[in-house]
Amino acid sequence: MSKVQNQAASGSDCVQAEPLDGLASLDGPNRVVSSGVDLDGPNQAATPAAQTANHPAVDHPKTAAGAYGSRFLRSCLRLPTDRTPVWFLRQAGRYMPEYMAVRKHHSLLEICRTPEIAAEVTITAAERLGVDAAIIFADLLLPFTPMGLDFEFVADEGPRVHAPIRSAAQARALRTDRTDELRYVARAIEKVASHFNARPQTDAGSSQPDQLGIIGFCGAPFTLASYMIEGGSSRNYIETKKLMYASQPTMGMGATGSSKHPDSAAWPILMEKLVTVLVEYAAQQVEAGADVIQVFDSWVGALSPTDYRQYVQRPTTELIGRIRALGVPVIYFGVDTASLLPAMSETGADVLGLDWRTPLDQAWRALGHGVAVQGNLDPITLFAPPDVLEARVGEILAAAAGRPGHIFNLGHGIVPGTPVEAVLQVVRQIKSSAG
Ligand code: CP3
Repeated sequence: MSKVQNQAASGSDCVQAEPLDGLASLDGPNRVVSSGVDLDGPNQAATPAAQTANHPAVDHPKTAAGAYGSRFLRSCLRLPTDRTPVWFLRQAGRYMPEYMAVRKHHSLLEICRTPEIAAEVTITAAERLGVDAAIIFADLLLPFTPMGLDFEFVADEGPRVHAPIRSAAQARALRTDRTDELRYVARAIEKVASHFNARPQTDAGSSQPDQLGIIGFCGAPFTLASYMIEGGSSRNYIETKKLMYASQPTMGMGATGSSKHPDSAAWPILMEKLVTVLVEYAAQQVEAGADVIQVFDSWVGALSPTDYRQYVQRPTTELIGRIRALGVPVIYFGVDTASLLPAMSETGADVLGLDWRTPLDQAWRALGHGVAVQGNLDPITLFAPPDVLEARVGEILAAAAGRPGHIFNLGHGIVPGTPVEAVLQVVRQIKSSAG
């Protein structure tokens, strides 16, 4: 059993998958460990210490309640907190003048690949907003380069992959032995961790210092494969689904006629190679000080529940299980996922990121309260008048009802043009609504 599971709640409605074995070699200073502290209240959510006898409790400041902990990390583990933690998807993006000032002098990839600049952008956004967690500045597609897939970001278009994968031969040619080249992201995380670990934050009017959570991230197999295959953003994912349907079933559903397709091996090869690279990439980030890994499956909502279960769930579950075995909680996020949430939850993720289309309480009830949730304000609400925005934020807090395991966030990323003042208003509101 991993340390993550020791720490997480063990309620009868728990839907966590059995995690894989922990990797003791990665037990660095920031690993999640069983604290066993301060859990006796009505909201008790942790496994009693007696049940974790094989994994002795080791106090870690970030999971402690009160004097010096991380409410973000505690919420990921469904432990009680003094107030709801808050951060924003794409909090360091183009809506922020400080980011645009850096962007004037550097390309997106230059920023990502220069640890000093990536760390600075990460820290500036988190401090400007006063949020409870910092997500490392990087991009989903960075692992493509060591895999041998060239891409660029084209202004007003987004990512463009130069030679999209359309055959089993191309999938076979992808490299999995150069993931070390991504270590610039880990080096940026080290800088962010040493900055924030030395600077606990205290809310105005409060006496409780708290440490920011440090979020590393990677793409999920489906979403990354969709960029590899389509060559960029897509509306209908035709090429992706063609390769997916051409594959042998990945869940033992029995052979279909399509399994004789000449490129039937492409999808399983892609899934396997992506999982190999992403686990190593996530391990680099955890070793460097990431407290949590968020797995972005932004476009998984393009799939029906049947297709998700048949072609995507197994590699995604493997990825999430192997990241959790590193000793950190995993946040699994996608958009347009209302019908997929139960299947996504079966991956064993500690936290599910919700989009804004389903009311938070409905989604959480459907999942069972054995998993934490993150979300789920419509990012475009940040363009609404202050009183409308305040009402919408209040509805989400009311839907969460103070239950341990809610992290306030948007249902998708902040879009360019969003007023920074609206984001700050949300942070102020969350901070003033303790409980
Ligand atoms: O604070 C942060 O969250 C920023 C760090 C970050 C970036 N990309 C930098 C970036 C993160 C977490 C990502 C993840 C990412 N990248 C996702 C998943 C998140 C989501 O919104 O669902 C996806 C799908 C990508 C791929 C990608 N990168 C696209 C489709 C685009 C172009 C579209 C767009 O939003 O402009 C990018 C470019 C990109 N990555 C930008 C940033 C800040 C904007 C372009 C720029 O600064 O030049």
